[in-house]
Amino acid sequence: MFKLSVIFILVFGSAIAFAPIDVERNADALCIRGDSKPGYCVLLRQCSFIKNILSEIRPGIPPTPTNKLYIQKSKCGSRPKNTRHVCCEENEKIDQAIHDLSTEDCGRFETDKIIGGKEIQLMSRPWMALLNFRNTDGKNAFTCGGTLINKRYVLTAAHCFTNQKLLYVRLGEHNISQQIDCKGNRCAPSVEDMGIERIFVHEKYSHETGHNDIALVKLSKDVEFRESIMPICLPTSEILQQRVNTLQGFRVTGWGKTENTSFSDVPMEAVVNRVDHSICQQEYTKTIDSNQICASKSLKNFCNGDSGGPLSYIPYLNGHQRFVQYGVVSFGSENCTDGYSGVYTNVGSYIRWIAYKIATK
Ligand SMILES: *[C@@H]1O[C@H](CO)[C@@H](O)[C@H](O)[C@H]1NC(C)=O
Ligand SMILES: *[C@@H]1O[C@H](CO)[C@@H](O)[C@H](O)[C@H]1NC(C)=O
Ligand SMILES: *[C@@H]1O[C@H](CO)[C@@H](O)[C@H](O)[C@H]1NC(C)=O
Repeated sequence: MFKLSVIFILVFGSAIAFAPIDVERNADALCIRGDSKPGYCVLLRQCSFIKNILSEIRPGIPPTPTNKLYIQKSKCGSRPKNTRHVCCEENEKIDQAIHDLSTEDCGRFETDKIIGGKEIQLMSRPWMALLNFRNTDGKNAFTCGGTLINKRYVLTAAHCFTNQKLLYVRLGEHNISQQIDCKGNRCAPSVEDMGIERIFVHEKYSHETGHNDIALVKLSKDVEFRESIMPICLPTSEILQQRVNTLQGFRVTGWGKTENTSFSDVPMEAVVNRVDHSICQQEYTKTIDSNQICASKSLKNFCNGDSGGPLSYIPYLNGHQRFVQYGVVSFGSENCTDGYSGVYTNVGSYIRWIAYKIATK
């Protein structure tokens, strides 16, 4: 009887409500623009920059040699009948999306104190997301973490989508093993299990090299923010992005591995320090590039966080301390105590990628 009711909950609680969604691994063909910067291969009529150059061409007014060369170098992709693709970046749209992210009320936290050096306080990291996947054996589990970055998108790692299918994203969770989380007589609102609309894995993600290990999940509807569900900030400005190379004392947060168990039932946090690439590179055979951050493993009781979870820093933004997500947990040694560095995707390198998806999808 007990077994039956458990199965009932599993089947009707999630499996039917949440059908797996296919991952888009090539949502945008990346290419090199005429000015040698990265862009996206789009229909000519969607690229205002090149459209404007072409619109100025009249009989007797040829394009300038620079513009002519730019357009020639911007051709991309296949060219089906009557369509022409060019390599373009929709700067205005992307800049607007970055502006929206930067003005978001994000990264607010109640306390940066960690209980007993590891467990975080109830509702103090309200951007933490748990991703529930079905593996190839048909089992469902929270096997990756992520972060809410605005009302519709969750940031995570690309490698999470290898050999498993995402069913739903849980927001507002604290202790996975209990229904209602309270501290004293203060209780968190119930969790939100969000359906999925689209999943974008970075077009240049490589399972072999581990490079570009970043993905975005578009939720099926906007989230309503509350005390237990709020977005984290991203390093949207160049100033914030450049600081990554001098910062020390990052936070890694998640339900991930502890020294003795594969999962903790409450989110843990540890302070980790940045490790120079030259040192980190000696620990791994994979090439570590500037789009990755290495950080030391914390003191034994909590290691790498969850795959897809955040590496954050707490700078002052407009006079207030805010959590800013600098990294996405990518890979590291499975061994908690060997002192090897953890490797994180450098979020600052992907702000335009993130903004492009938010602006155009
Ligand atoms: C999480 O909840 C379970 C079930 O109520 C409880 O046994 C466990 O101690 C809780 N974990 C923590 C760290 O409080
Ligand atoms: C892990 O296990 C060891 C040995 O059983 C114990 O001494 C240590 O306190 C445990 N660590 C944690 C974080 O529970
Ligand atoms: C982890 O690393 C420590 C120190 O190098 C070593 O003593 C231990 O045996 C390793 N454990 C596993 C499970 O590999």
